[in-house]
Amino acid sequence: MTTNTTLNTNFKLQVGTFYVEVWGCQMNVYDGGRIRDLLSAAGYAQASSPKDADIVVLVTCAVRAKAEDKVFNQIAAWQHTGEITKNTIVALGGCVGSELAEKILDLNKSVNIIFGPRTIHRLPQMISQFAATHKPVVDVAAEAIDKFDYMPESGPVGPSAFVTIMEGCSNKCTYCIVPYTRGEEQSRPVQDILDECVNHISNGVKEIHLLGQNVNSYHGLNNDGSICHFSSLLYEVAAIPGVERIRFTTSNPMDFTDDIIEAIKNLDVISDQIHVPIQAGSDRILQAMHRRYTAKQYIELVKKIRAARPSVHISSDFIVGFPGETDEDFEQTMKVVDEVRFDQSFSFVYSKRPGTPAATLEDPTPKEVKMERLYRLQKRLEEIASDYTQAFLGTTQKCLVEGVSRKDESELKARASSGRIVVFKGSTDLVGKMVNVKITSVIAHTLKGEIVNE
Ligand code: SAH
Ligand code: SF4
Ligand code: F3S
Repeated sequence: MTTNTTLNTNFKLQVGTFYVEVWGCQMNVYDGGRIRDLLSAAGYAQASSPKDADIVVLVTCAVRAKAEDKVFNQIAAWQHTGEITKNTIVALGGCVGSELAEKILDLNKSVNIIFGPRTIHRLPQMISQFAATHKPVVDVAAEAIDKFDYMPESGPVGPSAFVTIMEGCSNKCTYCIVPYTRGEEQSRPVQDILDECVNHISNGVKEIHLLGQNVNSYHGLNNDGSICHFSSLLYEVAAIPGVERIRFTTSNPMDFTDDIIEAIKNLDVISDQIHVPIQAGSDRILQAMHRRYTAKQYIELVKKIRAARPSVHISSDFIVGFPGETDEDFEQTMKVVDEVRFDQSFSFVYSKRPGTPAATLEDPTPKEVKMERLYRLQKRLEEIASDYTQAFLGTTQKCLVEGVSRKDESELKARASSGRIVVFKGSTDLVGKMVNVKITSVIAHTLKGEIVNE
């Protein structure tokens, strides 16, 4: 990774404390971590609550209206409790930042700085500018993804690290705001990604979690200028000494090519959890969503992945109540759910996002009907996920110990290859290590067990 220190040293004299709050997907979690690294390198100290911070940074999500509302409710709540005062510098960024930008400054006077997912590296400058001028700062636009070039090396993050391999998305699914908030898809160069992984491994990381809105379409440059596709990147990351597990999120079914399936077959370090969202089971709706695959093609894809890796756990995202979805369309989704038998999945009622193509479609289905569909879908998904959970009983799972269990400090919390959380009694020396745990009981979807042959 290229580390450009000039940007930071200009602000080394800055003193103050910061607090970062993150909403949204793992890509935002990654950005939130990088903002902490950046502000720390620029001389600010991290506070444990907004109350103790001079600067409060909000990394927000715009994917559904509810996610967007959350940030404004949170600011109001903090103002009400005195957690933030008129002296607090409030910097709002992430996907809401780039979507609403200047409008936010009119809507909420306590917001001082607006940044976007691609301008996080300029946050120290924005803070200095606001401190000097007391005039709102808006800096959301950047064509390139040079933000990665300005990041200091990450310090220890625990046993598992997120590594963003690409920014943005060009798929333009008709319901989705992400292409407008995060911009067109761009892949990071291979060497940058590998350097970041190596740095994490030297800090004790065992699991690398590769992130992108559509990791399957990764096409970053190799050192010689040739293009590296996702399957090749998987082999490269797997070859780094010390990488014990690789996860990746999110896969788009349309780009899940045979070479990626082959890599899953060949590379044991790839986890058993493959998140590959179908969204809906009706071809008519998939077409209206601009998803570019049919339910049949999706089912065939899952068959191929399962043939390559029989222990795989396939999970998905679903949207119910897309404009014009009929009862019949919804039944198609229920049919696919029974056919594929997904493991733990996410499902949402369609949320109209201003500026997206679907926002102009007629949407006559009453909210109650949509909620009823969501309830039925979630109930069925839950039943199937419970079957998978029960099937773990008596098995031995190779798990990465992530830390101490929050609920019971005498227990450790680990993650199995399937993505399931596993808790068991053990010494804290095991944190950061791979252990085998025999599953003896389950609570909801958490597996409980005992360690075998450490
Ligand atoms: N890039 C990923 C999805 C990222 S957004 C992919 O293509 O699979 C995460 C999830 O939010 C989506 O999979 C979708 O299920 C949901 N989502 C996105 N836009 C939405 C909207 N307008 N209303 C409801 N759910 C939405
Ligand atoms: Fe949104 Fe579709 Fe891109 Fe996923 S692939 S981020 S759903 S536009
Ligand atoms: Fe939300 Fe942006 Fe992620 S809209 S889901 S934080 S890409």
